[in-house]
Amino acid sequence: MELTTWATRILSADTLEEKLLAPDILTDFTPGPAVLWDTPTRPPGMEFRRHSKEERLPGLHEHGQLDKRAVCLHRFAGHELLAVEIMAYALLAFPDAPKHFRKGLANTLKEEQEHVKLYIQRLQALGVSFGDMPLYKHFWSHVPFLLTPVRYVSVMSLTFEMANLDFAPMYRDSFTKHGDQESARLMQRILEDEISHVSFG
Ligand SMILES: [Fe+2]
Ligand SMILES: [Fe+2]
Repeated sequence: MELTTWATRILSADTLEEKLLAPDILTDFTPGPAVLWDTPTRPPGMEFRRHSKEERLPGLHEHGQLDKRAVCLHRFAGHELLAVEIMAYALLAFPDAPKHFRKGLANTLKEEQEHVKLYIQRLQALGVSFGDMPLYKHFWSHVPFLLTPVRYVSVMSLTFEMANLDFAPMYRDSFTKHGDQESARLMQRILEDEISHVSFG
């Protein structure tokens, strides 16, 4: 499948299955004209919601409670889905970027899809389905400023993904401290992948 077709399908998907579609063979023969995608289509119930104060992320001291850990993991799953969509945006926005950049972007996108799946599995084990809790626009608010590959790299790889190099180990250690080894292992896996995403940037 062509990268442009794939990215368009991800951004216009109204099912999670389509958002997480990861073809084995991806090609980049016809990147086409630049398209600046406005807002991604979302599966029913997974649309962007307004963020209110009550919906703050539970503190580390609350990680002893399963439902609080689930809130954190659900939020992180939402971040991963946004990463998938922002990378699809970049594939459509920068058709003239060097081929190796587009290929790296596509590989990173696939890993973000994998991250969404891993969070979904962990959430299921905690009795929560992805989409049960509100999902926010967060990182997508910065998309209108991602007008060049360099801006994309500064904002996405070197700011948001870089931040995860601090947050993932922090949550890993807190989940370990509160006896949730499975969630801690997931954070460690995410950390390792995100290190390579930042180095791509
Ligand atoms: Fe990720
Ligand atoms: Fe990433």
